[in-house]
Amino acid sequence: MSLILIKKPALFILNIITFSCYIVASSIILGCFHPSSYCLFSSQIPALVCSEAFSAFLYNYCPVVVERFSPTPWCWGGRFQTLVSALLKSRPPVAYRNERIRTVDGGQILLDWVDNQDSAAYPESSTRPTVLIIPGLTGNSKQSYVLHAISQATRRGYRCLVFNNRGVAGEELLTPVTYCAANTSDLERVVQHVKGLYPQAPLLGYGVSMGGMLLLNYLGRKHAESGMVAGFTISVPWDAQKSSESMEEPLNLLLFNKYLTVGLRRAVTRQRKILEKVVDVDYVLRARTIREFDERFTTLLFGYKSCTEYYGDASPDRKLHNTAVPILCLNAADDPFSPQHAFPLTIVQSLPNVALLLTAHGGHIAFLQGLFPRGESYMERVFGQFVQAVFEHPNEINRACGIMEKRNS
Ligand SMILES: *[C@@H]1O[C@H](CO)[C@@H](O)[C@H](O)[C@H]1NC(C)=O
Repeated sequence: MSLILIKKPALFILNIITFSCYIVASSIILGCFHPSSYCLFSSQIPALVCSEAFSAFLYNYCPVVVERFSPTPWCWGGRFQTLVSALLKSRPPVAYRNERIRTVDGGQILLDWVDNQDSAAYPESSTRPTVLIIPGLTGNSKQSYVLHAISQATRRGYRCLVFNNRGVAGEELLTPVTYCAANTSDLERVVQHVKGLYPQAPLLGYGVSMGGMLLLNYLGRKHAESGMVAGFTISVPWDAQKSSESMEEPLNLLLFNKYLTVGLRRAVTRQRKILEKVVDVDYVLRARTIREFDERFTTLLFGYKSCTEYYGDASPDRKLHNTAVPILCLNAADDPFSPQHAFPLTIVQSLPNVALLLTAHGGHIAFLQGLFPRGESYMERVFGQFVQAVFEHPNEINRACGIMEKRNS
């Protein structure tokens, strides 16, 4: 067990400098290529797609869904929101308790807990509501969106834990297995572990971006046996193929895709010794896009015949009808990672337990508001209110979503 305190002033200053360069560069690039994305001071009530009963529940207990969302006025366009959010967002200090758990294949998973022992609302640990946070591609418990979610949940008295995908939290891989958006075995192992420790504590899953794909794929696979009372996702890519195409548009390739691929390659380099047993590492390290990386690495590691087959299996849109708990999904229509033409509007309209909350602006894991958007923004408020609504009004939300009394299986 060890405590990590996250506070890096030097990193912050570096971020500010990088950020200033980006402002200038992006203003020029976005200005030249996308004049239509200048939506200064635009402000709209987000669209809520769900059943009438679910929306009535949300109006009552999660009123942020009917508020106008006004993006930061100088931060136009989804790409710019995404960049600014990644560089500028504050990092609330969080002290984690680390735990390592083993998997059947001999691997290990690193969990980061915030027990919240001083919880005034839930002093009894065995029944304290618990949020399981699943970060995005290459992300871990140090991401600012994770820290903000923890701050929201703990102030309400809840416990949190972060599921770090294998190899992303600085730990060694013990077997040549990493992670992918379609394989829910590790998440299943984590949920089993948590339910074993606290069988009486309600558990909510919160997935961000690829973590959201994993969560929805898991909820679809497990139906009513998920061990969770609800799910919440932010900026989830609905169709991996379409997301990949969007990420390969020239500007997105330049601003995001290449950067993420560097992170993926770096992780492979760090674990080269063990991964060499199953893939051609030098070939993997020449991948220039996420898709190339997935073709040369993820597809092989998880036994898919092709990247197309993997992307099909990873896409959560076609799993939604198998889910059996209340789920709220927040997406922005200008998210470069999750194009709006892939939003599963028709599917969700026929499901009693799933709600899509869609804003016109907000980019990817950004949703920045206010002139100097370093602190909490729209997505943190939606998360905080929804988590509280789920934990404090379990019977109402289940009734609204057409779910019978069978919970916490
Ligand atoms: C996940 O991958 C592992 C290792 O390849 C495999 O043993 C397991 O069956 C997979 N699980 C699912 C749910 O696909």
